[in-house]
Amino acid sequence: MKLIVAKNYDEMSAEAAKIMAEVIKNKPDCVLGLATGSTPVGMYACLVDMYNKGELDFSKVKSVNLDEYYPIVPEHDQSYRYFMNYNLFDKVNINKENTFVPDGTCADPAAFCKAYDERIDAMGGTDIQVLGIGRNGHIGFNEPDTELLYGTHLTDLTEDTIDANARFFASANDVPKQALTMGMGPIFKARKIILLANGVNKAEAIKQTLAGKVSTLCPSTLLTLHPDVTVICDEDAYSLVK
Ligand code: PGA
Repeated sequence: MKLIVAKNYDEMSAEAAKIMAEVIKNKPDCVLGLATGSTPVGMYACLVDMYNKGELDFSKVKSVNLDEYYPIVPEHDQSYRYFMNYNLFDKVNINKENTFVPDGTCADPAAFCKAYDERIDAMGGTDIQVLGIGRNGHIGFNEPDTELLYGTHLTDLTEDTIDANARFFASANDVPKQALTMGMGPIFKARKIILLANGVNKAEAIKQTLAGKVSTLCPSTLLTLHPDVTVICDEDAYSLVK
């Protein structure tokens, strides 16, 4: 794994945007694997900035998102579709018909997930996948467990994740209890992965991720096995690595 330790959140965001921009410039019709959460907000702001300066063109770019709460309507201001529109899609010249976020309203999650994986394959897989990381080492909503699933699936959120995300909702009770998430298979099919982490609350997860051991009880450690992963973290998130 490659590692970039940035001074702070802004530097982490700029480093991540630089790598994303390179992929878009080298392959204007690339497929971006995108993530939500508080971590990548700054990276999206940098990409919007580059677009406004005329440095980036999203007209041929396609995207697939990692996950979405279930159930949730796309208009809900905490839905990941809403997040993506607000932070990126509405601010650049991407064709929204080429942007895919798991459908938090689908009636048949199993059928939806199968079709989502087939769509990713039909698009040729992602050229770059952005990942955040949970305090517990989850990636997407692949939560620590004795087994992890390969394909996109419906999953129960752990108490820790519900607790971590409660800050965005009126109360922990309002956080959806389930989510649709890419499994490890579609994540690993990405030709390049960047994992972003900032803040001391991610320090333990980053320490585990970089420790050179692999365990499904800390899903991010599996990234050790992918040939092209760059961990981009700030000094706080790096603070427990010896
Ligand atoms: P955060 O979430 O960016 O809001 O910290 C990351 C994650 O849970 O994957």
